[in-house]
Amino acid sequence: MAYQTIVVDIEDDVALIRLNRPDALNAINSKVVEELTEALGAAEGNDKVRAVVLTGSEKAFAAGADIKEMSEKSFVDVFTSDMFGPLNEAFLRFRKPVIAAVSGYALGGGCELALMCDFIIAADNAKFGQPEINLGVVAGIGGTQRLTRIVGKSKAMDMHLTGRFMDAAEAERSGVASRVVPLAKLMPEAMGVARKIAEKSQVAVMTVKEAVNRSYETTLREGLLFERRVFHALFATEDQKEGMQAFLEKREPQFRDK
Ligand code: CAA
Repeated sequence: MAYQTIVVDIEDDVALIRLNRPDALNAINSKVVEELTEALGAAEGNDKVRAVVLTGSEKAFAAGADIKEMSEKSFVDVFTSDMFGPLNEAFLRFRKPVIAAVSGYALGGGCELALMCDFIIAADNAKFGQPEINLGVVAGIGGTQRLTRIVGKSKAMDMHLTGRFMDAAEAERSGVASRVVPLAKLMPEAMGVARKIAEKSQVAVMTVKEAVNRSYETTLREGLLFERRVFHALFATEDQKEGMQAFLEKREPQFRDK
């Protein structure tokens, strides 16, 4: 499938989705929303894809929603078109693991896009920020909610109210990024991690996503009950038998997603 604003390559069970609007630092316009949504749908339905890596360029993962496209819009325009809603929904629906490989700017909608992914691997030149306040608006694709849950109220308020950027070290320290690597190692690291995850039982992988994400949606008691139930349920899979047997036989497991 030929896209205009993204490039998709599938290799070794991993779909690499690269944002490709270099002239606008990968700003997210309606075409990006449409194409990313489509690409995630295609990846969900493709058995050859067991994990996804989402990335941008060295200079920018994405510098935000497209300010040029938004600048003339009215309340009614943005309300009725719900410009970014489909992207949020596409990520919430997507059941395979998605890693954001972030280098350079991840600002506004770009930071929010990275936060929609399951985890973020950042290059040491990464800069995260929610500078919407400088445009007279607020984050609109999850930044006030997802960032706050990750870094807590104080730092989230600081980021959103001042519009300041967070460097890679602060991002790792505060839980935004799971790991930071030198820029040159970003893509090998992200692709390597994705391939490692692709080797696991996909039933267990999807269950991890459901269970961890459930912790954002419910009480501790309900979450623990959910976890206990899915833990029990996995004992109905052949992969549980294979995984434990392989450990006992001191060999690598051969998972079959069954
Ligand atoms: N939308 C549209 N175009 C953008 C853009 C954006 N968010 N960010 C950068 N660009 C464009 C610039 O207009 C420029 O285009 P031209 O060459 O045609 O003028 C090109 O990308 C290169 O950008 P700069 O010349 O500004 O590059 P720089 O290195 O000097 O600065 C930067 C980099 C600090 C990231 C700066 O571009 C910047 O501040 N960008 C805007 C960041 C921002 O405010 N993001 C939030 C957007 S609102 C949002 O995201 C709302 C939401 O939550 C849904």
